Amino acid sequence: MNSQPKLQILFTRQEIKATVSRLAAEISEDYHDKCPLLIGILKGSFMFMADLIRLLDFPLEVEFIRLSSYGGGSQTSGKVKVVQGISSPIKGRNVLVIEDIVDTGLTTAFLLDYLKKKKPASLKLCALTDKPSRRQTPVTIDYLGFTVPNKFLVGYGLDWDEKFRNLPDICFLE
Ligand code: IMP
Ligand code: MG
Repeated sequence: MNSQPKLQILFTRQEIKATVSRLAAEISEDYHDKCPLLIGILKGSFMFMADLIRLLDFPLEVEFIRLSSYGGGSQTSGKVKVVQGISSPIKGRNVLVIEDIVDTGLTTAFLLDYLKKKKPASLKLCALTDKPSRRQTPVTIDYLGFTVPNKFLVGYGLDWDEKFRNLPDICFLE
């Protein structure tokens, strides 16, 4: 039997709900007449995306892209590549990338650069959490939920070795 790591709640489901509502209001203000293409980065953003778009009451489209940056556990390999791309055309679209966490910044910096080459009309980033203490490359986050301490977070889509994505609260591993 594996010993279970200890979890502490960092943000409760109520705090997450309030923050997602605040982000939805900001995004609605800017995108209500733009039929944006929201691109979620798999797998971590799936729960955030699902909650966020239910609060967006205007036409939009959703895509997901799968990138690889981490192997198992909590260490980054530093290299990012597209594992599963998107079929919708990007050119001329108002694209909003949806991410669970910006940590070193390598994943989002790579994706924003990759999408920019496809000539979107606009390209912005919405991240539920930001861990600025770990940044290796600068990333502009246009819509930010929470700034978080340098701890490994799980829950609300975030995993540790594929586990804990199903937790409704955002927790950290002790
Ligand atoms: P970055 O490329 O270092 O910015 O990391 C981006 C990806 O690493 C995120 O999309 C997450 O999937 C993963 N990641 C980074 N920090 C954490 C964490 O604290 N918990 C879970 N996943 C994380
Ligand atoms: Mg992720």
